[in-house]
Amino acid sequence: MRALPWLFLVSVALFISGIGFVIAGARASRQAAPAEEAPATAPVASVAQIMNGIVQPNALVIYNAVGTFVSAAGVKEVAPQTDEEWAAIGTSAAALVESGNLLLLGSRVVDSGDWITMTRAFMDRSQMALRAAGAKDTDGILAAGSDINDTCDACHAKYQRQ
Ligand code: HEC
Repeated sequence: MRALPWLFLVSVALFISGIGFVIAGARASRQAAPAEEAPATAPVASVAQIMNGIVQPNALVIYNAVGTFVSAAGVKEVAPQTDEEWAAIGTSAAALVESGNLLLLGSRVVDSGDWITMTRAFMDRSQMALRAAGAKDTDGILAAGSDINDTCDACHAKYQRQ
């Protein structure tokens, strides 16, 4: 019968050392994490794909959000009405700003002069639209839309391959 307390003590000791291993293991894995390399960004889309997939559709959302549109049915004043409509304009403006970041990545950077300046101008105007959407400023969207369009034209005049 004297064997039983020993058995009990041995199993308690094994249990405690087991916990020790678990804690040590958890510490080791926590320390290992920061040493892992963050995945490198790898540009995939061409500039034309960024234009067609991101820039053009989101610019159209901003251009069509506010204005006086004339058709056979007559003259129609358009302006965002609901929170959802304003949020959608903000989303498109944010996508335009981010597309500028993509134009400044890796091999998409054509030169270190006008390409950067023109992309930054495009991003600044898109930021204006983003702020106007946040402030629900109808005139601000109209002005930003026209200013953004100027930056598209300026860059295309210099860099678009025909
Ligand atoms: C910083 C320069 C730059 C800005 C700003 C810019 N673009 Fe472009 N865009 C280009 C270049 C370069 C091409 C030609 C890409 C190619 O053919 O490889 C292009 C091509 C395009 C195309 C044609 C894509 C195709 O299939 O050939 C469209 C549409 C377009 N841009 C829309 C826009 C609109 C709308 C804006 C503004 C809201 C804009 N771009 C702003 C540089 C710019």
